Amino acid sequence: MSVTIVTGASRGIGKAIAKRLATSTLLLVGTNKDKLSQVVDEIKAAGGTAEFFAGDVRDAEFARAVVARAMQLGKLTNVILSAGISKGGGADKFPDATLRDLFDVNFFGSVNFAKAALASPELQNIMFLAGTAGTRGYSSMTGYCASKHALVGYARALAQEVSKRNIRVVPVCPGPTDTDMTAGIVKMLVGKGMSEKDAKAKIASGDNLETLLSPDDVADTIARIIDEDLLVINGEPVPVKPRPTVSADALQRLKDYNAMIAASDARLRAAARTGHDEGCECVACGQAG
Ligand SMILES: NC(=O)c1ccc[n+]([C@@H]2O[C@H](COP(=O)([O-])OP(=O)(O)OC[C@H]3O[C@@H](n4cnc5c(N)ncnc54)[C@H](OP(=O)(O)O)[C@@H]3O)[C@@H](O)[C@H]2O)c1
Repeated sequence: MSVTIVTGASRGIGKAIAKRLATSTLLLVGTNKDKLSQVVDEIKAAGGTAEFFAGDVRDAEFARAVVARAMQLGKLTNVILSAGISKGGGADKFPDATLRDLFDVNFFGSVNFAKAALASPELQNIMFLAGTAGTRGYSSMTGYCASKHALVGYARALAQEVSKRNIRVVPVCPGPTDTDMTAGIVKMLVGKGMSEKDAKAKIASGDNLETLLSPDDVADTIARIIDEDLLVINGEPVPVKPRPTVSADALQRLKDYNAMIAASDARLRAAARTGHDEGCECVACGQAG
């Protein structure tokens, strides 16, 4: 049984990831027991298997205990490190203590789990929620950006070190996403008279997006990396794109088209096997595929 640890799973991006990866046994981490328990209930109600471990990611001993529990439950294959905090403010007056908090949670909190998880012989994926702040700068976000750049550097070096074990290390880099983390800025812009829609569009425009990403957009990217539907260069940042909005009609046409291609492939395989024409209706060709 494959086991996945998701930190920051009580809300936001981590919660969406946990719900998206419900085919694996999930071990969810955060500090808010009530919210974690609610996510576990939602996953179980949908037929999945999950439990939570409440604690602070800054505590390396705690990270080792979570990993030990995961290895008791089954094969620890994935660790998705989403726990994080964000604080902004001008660099000149930015408190040293806040700068350290950002590094303690965002950098050391994730590294504690990545290091501990290396004990799992079956480990396949370590993913850090670095964000675009891991690869570019944002004004008044020096501490946050620095802590995320540190994660990207760590991921790049770790990938070199563990690639011989076939472990993928991925700094996942969504732009601004619609969670509690961006809610404060939205609220501030709404307070200045902007509509909520315009406020989200304004924040997103800095990253050439029409609006904020959804936590599900990020969860989709992570699921695709795990499923190898999205190939990545080990250690290199992976951007997140918004889910395309597809109408029910267009989706049906796509399904019909895929079914037609599959049927045509089956006929070609049958023709290659029997040596008969592609349109032949004999019994051997009828057993297409
Ligand atoms: N939202 C964005 O625009 C965005 C964009 C790119 C990257 N990211 C990154 O993606 C990750 C998730 O962001 P989000 O938007 O989902 O944030 P969020 O809604 O504020 O959720 C943060 C999560 O981190 C957990 N957490 C914070 N400090 C913790 C600690 N010391 N120990 C254990 N858990 C802790 C929280 O758990 P409790 O509530 O239980 O304490 C919560 O589950 C973060 O690393 C963030 O930097 C966010």
